[in-house]
Amino acid sequence: MDGASRLVTVELNAAVQAVAREQLGSDVRVTFVAKDGGEWLEGYDGEPFDLVFADTWPGKFTHLERALELVAPGGTYLIDDLFPQPGWPEAHEASVKRLLAELEGRHDFRSVRLAWASGLVMAVRGASESTASS
Ligand SMILES: C[S@@+](CC[C@H](N)C(=O)[O-])C[C@H]1O[C@@H](n2cnc3c(N)ncnc32)[C@H](O)[C@@H]1O
Repeated sequence: MDGASRLVTVELNAAVQAVAREQLGSDVRVTFVAKDGGEWLEGYDGEPFDLVFADTWPGKFTHLERALELVAPGGTYLIDDLFPQPGWPEAHEASVKRLLAELEGRHDFRSVRLAWASGLVMAVRGASESTASS
């Protein structure tokens, strides 16, 4: 991040977020939000982001459209935890498959799967497109 960059981090669990605050709390570029990610996504009315890293349910398995709307033209939507894991709830694998199909079927984003770490997808919004198409 350069001096003009801004980072907004949303976490439901204030105790978990306290760890990040300890490390980055003095950085004026960072805004810490302790609330449900879905509520935050529904209420946010600021500028779009160059990078959206959706690392929990809202913005990924719920509120996907809203999270994608907040990616600026040319910007990136990033998700991980896509490789099957032993502790997944029964229906989760199907949810991941639906999510991948949704992302890869879009015309406004170009997606690539990365066989790295827990399994990632990087989806980049077309530079001149700003609306979803199905
Ligand atoms: C997979 S962890 C990722 C944490 C962090 N991004 C990391 O890489 O270490 C998911 C996080 O989402 C938080 N979380 C769960 N449900 C949430 C929700 N509805 N809104 C916001 N955060 C949530 C959990 O407390 C947990 O810290």
